[in-house]
Amino acid sequence: MKTTAKTFLEMKQQGQRIAEITCYDYTTAKLIEASGINAILVGDSLGNTMLGYPDTLSVTMEDMIHHSRAVSRACSNTMVIMDMPFMSYQASVYEAVTNAGRLMKEGRGNAVKLEGGAAVKEQIKAIVDAGIPVQAHIGMTPQSVNAFGGFKVQGKGEEAAKKLLEDAYAVQEAGAFSVVLECTPPKLSELISKKLTIPTIGIGAGAGCDGQVLVYQDMLGMNMDFVPKFVKKFANVGEIMMGAFAEYMKEVQEGTFPEEVHSYVKSDCSDEFLKKLEAEL
Ligand code: KIV
Repeated sequence: MKTTAKTFLEMKQQGQRIAEITCYDYTTAKLIEASGINAILVGDSLGNTMLGYPDTLSVTMEDMIHHSRAVSRACSNTMVIMDMPFMSYQASVYEAVTNAGRLMKEGRGNAVKLEGGAAVKEQIKAIVDAGIPVQAHIGMTPQSVNAFGGFKVQGKGEEAAKKLLEDAYAVQEAGAFSVVLECTPPKLSELISKKLTIPTIGIGAGAGCDGQVLVYQDMLGMNMDFVPKFVKKFANVGEIMMGAFAEYMKEVQEGTFPEEVHSYVKSDCSDEFLKKLEAEL
């Protein structure tokens, strides 16, 4: 059964936690789908993880469409949520709806995600009115890294805590089916999760959220750059990959790979003929 925006709400009502994970390619999406995870986020974190940018600001609509299509092709049951890139929705409601529509038509996912609270409530409402489910994202919103002065915990202090709760209410009222809370104090995240009827999906926001999301390269130990404190390494896939690459190089250099079993046809002409060919040409 395909997970949908409606499933997210039902899961919250039934007290079931939601597992979401980022993904940007077909092969990994197939593996995630087989694991039964509820939702894939084609995050604009692909700017960091797939394209090597220092932040998400350079990610384009074309990047998002390209990666979303690949992931969507792999997913029959997993809900695919697609990030709206920086400046594809902030400037106007018209641009927000047009770009969300384009992402749905060409990326073939099931919902879009955008960053911001009360400041983007008109955009969320208009996109939802156009029939597109929206996951909101508040707290540490990476597209605003320059405004925040770095990747920092948000919602610290009474004023900031109140503003975060107001933002959470604003996106719920605008029609978002869920909201990502990124890098917010755990007790505040728990309070927001209790107050809202839509599920909260935490990342660095503690255990009191209705679900969690992680960047897959982080949780698989594949990220050789900075790894945030909130990440748990569920496997050391990076080490396994490096070991396999080194072993492959060694075997190629030593001539122990490929062996006979790795060839399609053992011999389709006689040794005699090959000797003749060698002598002739
Ligand atoms: O782009 C992304 O991966 C995200 C998650 C960190 C929530 O927005």
